[in-house]
Parts: sequence; C-alpha cells; structure tokens
Amino acid sequence: MLNATTIAEKILDWYAVNARTFPWRTNPDPYAVWVSEIMLQQTRMETVLPYYDYWMKAFPSLKDLAEADLQEVLKLWEGLGYYSRARNLHKAANVVMQEYGGVIPSDRKTLEKLPGIGRYTAAAISSIAFNADEAALDGNIRRVYSRLFNIEAPIRSTEAEQKLWALAEALLPKGHAGDYNQALMDLGSGVC
Ligand code: ADE
Repeated sequence: MLNATTIAEKILDWYAVNARTFPWRTNPDPYAVWVSEIMLQQTRMETVLPYYDYWMKAFPSLKDLAEADLQEVLKLWEGLGYYSRARNLHKAANVVMQEYGGVIPSDRKTLEKLPGIGRYTAAAISSIAFNADEAALDGNIRRVYSRLFNIEAPIRSTEAEQKLWALAEALLPKGHAGDYNQALMDLGSGVC
C-alpha cells in the first residue's frame, strides 16, 4: 500500500510534466486566480479561456473591477450565464477595497466571508495564490479520489463526503497545496 507522502509525490511528479498552461498558473496573482475560479464554477474551461482574457484586459486589477460600472461588468459576462457570479465578484471587489485596503485575504476563512466565495473556491484561492495548506474538493477532485480509493458510496452522499474530505486532508502535501490541488483538477478533467 502506498503511503500518503508517496501518493502526493507521484501526483506532483505527474503534474510537473503534464500541467496544463493557463494564464493564472503562469502568474498566480490572487486576483487572477479568483477571477478564474469564479468563471470556472459553472462553466467549462474552453468557454472560460477567451472570457478570462477579455475580462483581464477590461479589468486588469481588483481596483479596476471595483471602480467599474456594474452594467459594464455584466456586459462582459454575457454568454457565461449565472450572472450572480459577476454581481458577486463586483460586490466582493468593493468589499476588499473598503474593508481590506485593496489586499485580497490569503486566509480561507476570511475569503469565505466574501460574496460568491464558498468553501471550495476559498480553498482554491488560498492554496493556488498563497500556497496555504488547504485541501480543496471540486467535482473533478472528488472523481479522482473516488476512483483511486474505490469509494462506492454515491459521490454526494454524507458517507462519501466524509471519506473524501478525510482523504483530501490526509494526502495534502504541506507546502505544495496549490500544485497538488491543480494536479488533481487536471487529472480529473483529463484522465477520469
Ligand atoms: N477548475 C477550477 N479551477 C481550476 C484550475 N485552477 N485549474 C484547472 N481546472 C480548474
């Protein structure tokens, strides 16, 4: 039986060779990671990529977004659907400007207080942009663990959730959470 360190090492080794290239990976700036995570919540990667580029040209920084007109923000979101994501992103940008001096919090619990950011998104931002030791579980990661560890309970059942979170916490390689979480996302979308 492979131990947790060996599994995490294998996953990180795989990622070192096979990671997909995305703009927010090349430069994991917290604002860039945040925008990418919100867009990816309910939309496929192929659709997100061009929107992400338009967005970053229109609103290159958190301050630009906070100062933008909501109508302009919604216009850019057209076609992505689930517009509450854009409204919340705009609202949250203003909260960060006003309450956090324009600095995006690194801590998962603080991130979770912002509009539009739930547990997964907070963990993703905290680990990818700040390399905090936070386990993240999205649909892809759930699939990877279910397959690797033969979890037979239905994927959204309480039993599966408990097992999945326990695995995600136990396997997380400290100091490499951002790469590790993204490796699982890539594995889940490409291999599973
Ligand atoms: N899905 C959500 N966030 C992602 C990321 N950072 N990389 C790949 N797929 C993702």
